Formats: sequence, structure tokens, C-alpha cells
Amino acid sequence: MAERAALITGASSGIGLAIARALGGDGYALTVSARRPGKLESATEGLRTDGIEVQSVTANMTDEEDVVGIFARHREAYGRLDVLVNNAGVGIGAPLEEIQTKHLDMQLEVNLRALIIGTREGLPLLREAGAEHGKALIVNTASIAGKGGQAWLSIYAATKAAVLNFTQSTHHEVGSAGIQCTALAPGFVDTPMTEFAKGQVPAEEMIQPADLGEAVRFLLRTSRNCHVPEIVFTRPGERLDTP
Ligand SMILES: NC(=O)c1ccc[n+]([C@@H]2O[C@H](COP(=O)([O-])OP(=O)(O)OC[C@H]3O[C@@H](n4cnc5c(N)ncnc54)[C@H](OP(=O)(O)O)[C@@H]3O)[C@@H](O)[C@H]2O)c1
Repeated sequence: MAERAALITGASSGIGLAIARALGGDGYALTVSARRPGKLESATEGLRTDGIEVQSVTANMTDEEDVVGIFARHREAYGRLDVLVNNAGVGIGAPLEEIQTKHLDMQLEVNLRALIIGTREGLPLLREAGAEHGKALIVNTASIAGKGGQAWLSIYAATKAAVLNFTQSTHHEVGSAGIQCTALAPGFVDTPMTEFAKGQVPAEEMIQPADLGEAVRFLLRTSRNCHVPEIVFTRPGERLDTP
């Protein structure tokens, strides 16, 4: 059995894949999950090529059974969960008057509902890890958009504000059980999600996905007495209210 294991959602590209690479590089056995099987498989193959022990589970985070299934597969494979990264997310911009209900539902389901269900499903094994070594970790990917309102991204920003708050509540509830909870709140990161913005902010000027992988490493390398509730990432000179 692996000495440490992690489960990362939304790990087929961008931030989730970078966190998977960081944790895998540090010896964690991984379950990685995403929606599109081909993209997830090629990301998983890349991790394996780097010598990382990894299984992939295709799941649509809008479907509760799929979400629950990721955790069942993880338990079968590794029998322990030290780090849970609730990272899958989707952002669909629209003026308020043009919000489509299906896009509202999708963002609420993927960004918030699935993260809550995933936390519920992960907690039994995380509690065991917390009791064993006092430093189990839940990382929730929020956004700088959650720190303040965001024109044309109002639903996305609202879901991410809720993620920040849910992370705090989770910490209040399970912190004393050796489970730490941290929200990551980045501005523009160079991933497929920010393709729409690369005309205004060149990719090479954006925060790099590996920066968030390093942040998760940092969270795990501090002592069990050190809890970091939230990390905000901005580009140099960027204002907090402009994601
Ligand atoms: N990039 C940024 O500037 C930025 C800033 C702040 C916060 N974030 C947050 O960071 C997280 C990762 O985003 P990213 O920037 O790394 O973008 P990304 O490369 O597009 O990654 C998004 C991941 O989420 C998965 N996903 C999306 N919808 C899903 C669904 N319905 N079911 C299962 N998986 C789904 C995607 O899988 P498929 O491709 O298979 O759908 C992919 O693996 C998100 O929560 C995002 O909101 C990003």
C-alpha cells in the first residue's frame, strides 16, 4: 500500500495536472479525475512516464454517482487518503440579462455542489489520515474572482466566494481532527480556461500552473501546528479585485 495517497479532481490539464505532478513527484499515489476520457488518459500517461503511481477515473462532476464513484475507486486502489484537491471548475461568462439557466446550473454543480459532495465522501479516509499523522489536507481551488464581485462572471465569482466560505466552515468543523483546509485563490493562470484572455494578458505573463503545485507542496511541508487558510495569487502589480 502507498505510504501517502491523494485524489485530485479536474486533473487532466492546467492547475489540477500541475498539482498532481507536484504531489506525484513527492511520492504520493494518485487518483486523477476529469470529464473527457481521452484528455484525462493522455495526462495520466504523462504522469506515469514521470514514474508516478496513478489511476484515472472519468467522471462528470455534475453527476453525484460519478463523484461518489471517484472516491470508491480511490479507496479500492489505495485504502487511504491524505490529500484531497477539489479542483474541477468551469467558468461561463454572460451579462446578467443573458444568463442561461443551464450554464447557471452547470457552474453551481461543478464548482460548488461537487466540491461539497467530494468533501463529504473524502472525509472518512481523511479523518483516518488526520488521526495517523495530524496533517491531512483538503485543498479547494477557488479564485480571486471569489474575493470580490466580477462583471460578466457573476455566477462563477459567486460559486468561488462560496468555495472560500465552505473551506472556512470545513476547517472549523474538522481542523481539530488533524485535517487542514486551504483555499487557493489565483488570478489569471496560464491554462486552457484562460484562452479567452490571452489577447489581453499574454500567457507568459500569467501565473504558472506549477506555482500552484509548489503552493500545495508548501502546505504539506509546514508543521502540523501551521494552518494556512487561504492563498491569494496575483500577478505583480495586479489589483486584488481584477482577476
Ligand atoms: N486559470 C485560471 O486563471 C484560474 C483562476 C482561478 C481559479 N481557477 C480554477 O482552477 C480550477 C482549474 O482550472 P484550470 O484553470 O486549470 O482550467 P482547465 O485546464 O480547463 O481545467 C479544468 C479541469 O476541470 C475539469 N472539469 C471541468 N468541468 C468538469 C465536469 N463537468 N466534470 C468533471 N471535470 C470537469 C476539466 O476536465 P475536462 O477538460 O475533461 O472537462 C479539467 O480537468 C478551476 O476550479 C478554476 O475555476 C482557474
